[in-house]
Amino acid sequence: QQGDPVEAPAFLAASYACQRNTPQPGHNTLLTAALSVLAESAELNGDEGRGLAFRRSEGLLRSLDRRVQGPAELRGLPCLGDHSQRVIQDLLENGVSSEVEETKSSPRYRAMKLLTGIFGVGVKTAKRWFTEGICSLAQLETSGHSLNAAQQAGIKYYTDLNQPVSREEADAVSVMVEGVVHSVLPGARVTLAGGFRRGKMSGHDVDFLITHPDEGKEEGLIHKIIACLESRGLLLYQQTTRNTYRESAKGAGRPSSSMDRFDRCFSIFKLTNDSSPEDTRRAQQQDPERVRVEADQTGSGGRPWRAVRVDLVVSPISQFAFALLGWTGSKLFEREMRRWAVRERSMSLSSHALYDRNQERYLRASSEEEIFAHLGLEYVSPTGRNA
Ligand code: GTP
Ligand code: MN
Ligand code: MN
Repeated sequence: QQGDPVEAPAFLAASYACQRNTPQPGHNTLLTAALSVLAESAELNGDEGRGLAFRRSEGLLRSLDRRVQGPAELRGLPCLGDHSQRVIQDLLENGVSSEVEETKSSPRYRAMKLLTGIFGVGVKTAKRWFTEGICSLAQLETSGHSLNAAQQAGIKYYTDLNQPVSREEADAVSVMVEGVVHSVLPGARVTLAGGFRRGKMSGHDVDFLITHPDEGKEEGLIHKIIACLESRGLLLYQQTTRNTYRESAKGAGRPSSSMDRFDRCFSIFKLTNDSSPEDTRRAQQQDPERVRVEADQTGSGGRPWRAVRVDLVVSPISQFAFALLGWTGSKLFEREMRRWAVRERSMSLSSHALYDRNQERYLRASSEEEIFAHLGLEYVSPTGRNA
């Protein structure tokens, strides 16, 4: 090696995903899609460590500002383990990776994907069922397993919930949520979070963060919102959980019973196709027949509505910046930010607070920018957090 001219790496890339700008969908979608399959397969096997290693490789490639053409361009890049490198090399040389193709067609991966695709079914449950030989919805239904309420809804709306939510549908849901929130608590604020805030064009659900500028006014709000949604016939399913976050002297932000904060609702909305009257009217003027056909196909089974997964989270204004950062994602971006905080700054970051272990105190923030600044990170806008 000595004496060789020092070759500058093709790309400069930082090792933590939260130090990089990662737009959607990136310039290396062939590679990132393949690594995502391997990550998912590891996650479905319950192998979190292996999953994370593939996710980090995927995130790194997604952040590069041009297409990788050959293995030489990978030299000097962080986050790429031996296994990921082999897969990438295969893809660059042959256009496919046999490992990825085998994974995708393996009975286990297919069954686990199908079963965890049921709302309310996690990896553990799916694994148990798969071990019993259950590989399809039909087999599940004849197995005699008793399903909880979430899983029953998950089966009932399986087709709808596995059809990606479009940007237009997310906007229509936003209008519904804003209308309801403002009618039960004027002055409350509704913010679109999750993948749609990151600029994604589709998602598996729609995420909202709700707050009120006067601390305390948000208490009990989730129940009023649910009641109003139900009275308007907009909910197909809901499960509300109360989070009991409270700051502790040791800064761990451990849940405690004395102060109930951060209520959250997992729900399934009934999105009718007249939810956006403006759009429907405009489209009908252009081509009434097309609108009619689309309307028939909106829900599975030819009904004029469709089921959409919606997450509602209520945060007190004092924690809003942390909640917004935490609920915007991506999952890997969040994970990496917490890892950076602990390892590089000796701080612990959550969706509620930031605690400085050296100074032994909480660091306040009223915007995401302030949180990045506390952590010594350059600000990354939501659309750059698609790691
Ligand atoms: P799609 O919905 O698949 O399009 O992507 P998404 O990025 O919106 O994913 P998702 O809706 O699952 O999650 C959005 C953000 O909320 C992610 O950053 C998650 O890490 C975060 N999140 C999801 N569940 C929880 C939770 O139980 N607690 C906290 N604190 N954050 C969560
Ligand atoms: Mn989401
Ligand atoms: Mn969500």
